[in-house]
Amino acid sequence: MRKQIAAANWKMNLTYQQGEELLDTILKGNIGLADHQYAVFAVPFPYLIMAQTKLSGKKNYAAAAQNCSDQPAGAYTGEVSAEMLKSINIGYCVLGHSERREYFSEHNQSLATKTQRCLELGITPIFCCGEPLSIREVDAQESYVEAQLKESLFHFSAEEISRIVIAYEPIWAIGTGKTATAEQAQEMHACIRRQLASKYGSQVADAIPILYGGSVKAGNAKELFSRPDVDGGLVGGASLVAADFLKIIESLK
Ligand code: 13P
Repeated sequence: MRKQIAAANWKMNLTYQQGEELLDTILKGNIGLADHQYAVFAVPFPYLIMAQTKLSGKKNYAAAAQNCSDQPAGAYTGEVSAEMLKSINIGYCVLGHSERREYFSEHNQSLATKTQRCLELGITPIFCCGEPLSIREVDAQESYVEAQLKESLFHFSAEEISRIVIAYEPIWAIGTGKTATAEQAQEMHACIRRQLASKYGSQVADAIPILYGGSVKAGNAKELFSRPDVDGGLVGGASLVAADFLKIIESLK
């Protein structure tokens, strides 16, 4: 059975104390996960050890980084390497979020290298893709996302791609309250799966989790996750409210 993941992306929000409190409340909610279900929390770097320590006691709950360097080590002030993440047992890393692409000039080639670094260390990349509004308006989202995947991922082997999680996040739906409809999400997820299948075959494509991100809320998660190719969500704003994120975790199929 394909993995399903409710992934929180805290972005640059919450103090350390607020983060601890949020995780404690979520853990008190005590939602049990089936073998194929996961709850992952992408927290700011200084909170990773705290989050990992709290979450690791609970089956299929884990902490994630929000980024890592494309360099292995060395004189790169302010950067955090995949190896550093590995050394504190972090199993997931969000890569290529649209905010990083837009504000920190991340591009498909450097993301290919970051993905490689994570894969080499056994860290699961949560690789983000998705089109801006201008591309959606001219109905070019399929080829736009295909180029992102091709340039960053399609040189990997079938074994490597099988260890990646993809997050489809249409930029026009992020933080805007304007969620893609479940049909729009399903359409793009099916398209991404077709693109994966044409490169790696349907057996490999069918096993890769594809998460939807962009204004996922407690009230729409169930409908989004009920679509056959939507394997969970990458959640910003609603992941900062314990009651909301608990409902989102519960919405996994
Ligand atoms: P929102 O859920 O706040 O729209 O953010 C989505 C997102 O960017 C998750 O990575």
